[in-house]
Amino acid sequence: MSFRPPKGTDDLLAPRSQSWREALGLWEDWSARYGYPLVMTPVLEATELFERGVGETTEVVTKQMFTFTDRGGRSMTLRPEGTAGVVRAFLASGGQGPWKGAYSGPFFRYEQPQGGRRRQFWQLGVEYLNVESPVADAEVIELGYRYLETVGVADLELVVNTLGDPSCRPAYVEALRRYLDERRQLLSPESARLIELNPLRVLDSKTDRPHLDDPPRMTDFLCEPCARHYDGVKHLLDTLEITYTEDLSLVRGLDYYTRTAFEYVGRGLATAQNALGGGGRYDGLSELLGGPPTPGVGFALGLDRIILSAGKEPGSHLDAYLVYETDVTEAVVVASRLRRTGTRVDFDGEGRPVEAQFRMAARLDVPVVLVYRGSDLPVEARASGVSHEMGLDEVPEWVRRSRDT
Ligand code: HAM
Repeated sequence: MSFRPPKGTDDLLAPRSQSWREALGLWEDWSARYGYPLVMTPVLEATELFERGVGETTEVVTKQMFTFTDRGGRSMTLRPEGTAGVVRAFLASGGQGPWKGAYSGPFFRYEQPQGGRRRQFWQLGVEYLNVESPVADAEVIELGYRYLETVGVADLELVVNTLGDPSCRPAYVEALRRYLDERRQLLSPESARLIELNPLRVLDSKTDRPHLDDPPRMTDFLCEPCARHYDGVKHLLDTLEITYTEDLSLVRGLDYYTRTAFEYVGRGLATAQNALGGGGRYDGLSELLGGPPTPGVGFALGLDRIILSAGKEPGSHLDAYLVYETDVTEAVVVASRLRRTGTRVDFDGEGRPVEAQFRMAARLDVPVVLVYRGSDLPVEARASGVSHEMGLDEVPEWVRRSRDT
């Protein structure tokens, strides 16, 4: 058969998929610890949601969306990001007051595929709505940071910036426009076009940004409330002993950000795609979608890049493989008992000879092989070349202890 996954998408099978399962399990744990319940939104949304929410001049909207007309004549898009959909869902539910949600799932962007840049990729994210205080910004930044540390990302760096708000940003945008206009001849035609439309996007351009020395800085234009907010976020990060650097040219690729913007960078990642995740505050997004004023802050992490960056060999998806010398029905019962007490165990379902069962255990590279000889005989547990005998009831606890050490 010659079918392959579509360009920029991947099949993910064991043993590699085990790294994903572990990272997703840790995500469930960390997002729950910070009080974020699960939120699930459709993979498919009306195209207009992203045009309005993410911004019509962003690369995501102009070049990267998988958009099609459905059979009812509606323009639909495979979600390129999660924030617009989550805010839409919150508004549709009539939501009010402080609200939190955590998500994980596939997202789609039509990009030139390379290591860590896929057309279908997996994001883990949170959104924290209706809390204006810098406490919310610091909390989401901390959650992403602690998660990435736990997952084992090498050389993690946090970069922060502020983008001001509608009261102070226009003066900055004007200064940036004048600055870019004076350098128009250095810029690509695409960036030159953006000077009028959306000059912040020029700072986001990978080709043009290196030619721009010392552009005007948002921090020189901040209004008092924005300056106070930014100081508040940094003070809380200091208090939480989270190390960060400030990059006054960090603008992020989506238009909805106000005030705080941040990125997690994996300096240990050999590929150019070292932005492991990013986020920020988006106090105006709800109104762009026709909702009431609803401040919000959140982030999304790219799981494909996190796994590359952590670079760990995937563990086994099993605790043990059961080799049995009895008939297969007895093995079914023994495996069931072990599974119900928490042991991840598998066995041969076809009653093959013991040697074939051992070969399968070796192929699966399991940490423990259990040899079962009959109900009145002890079970032999083989691990790291050493053999231990015990009653069947003792196996789950023994396996758990050897897993944790
Ligand atoms: P974003 O920076 O566009 O933000 O994406 C977040 C992360 O998703 C990136 O840092 C990267 O790790 C991963 N990512 C993006 N595109 C790809 C790709 N083509 N292949 C692999 N990984 C990719 C957002 O999406 C915002 N919604 C984040 C946010 C949430 N802001 C506030 N709340």
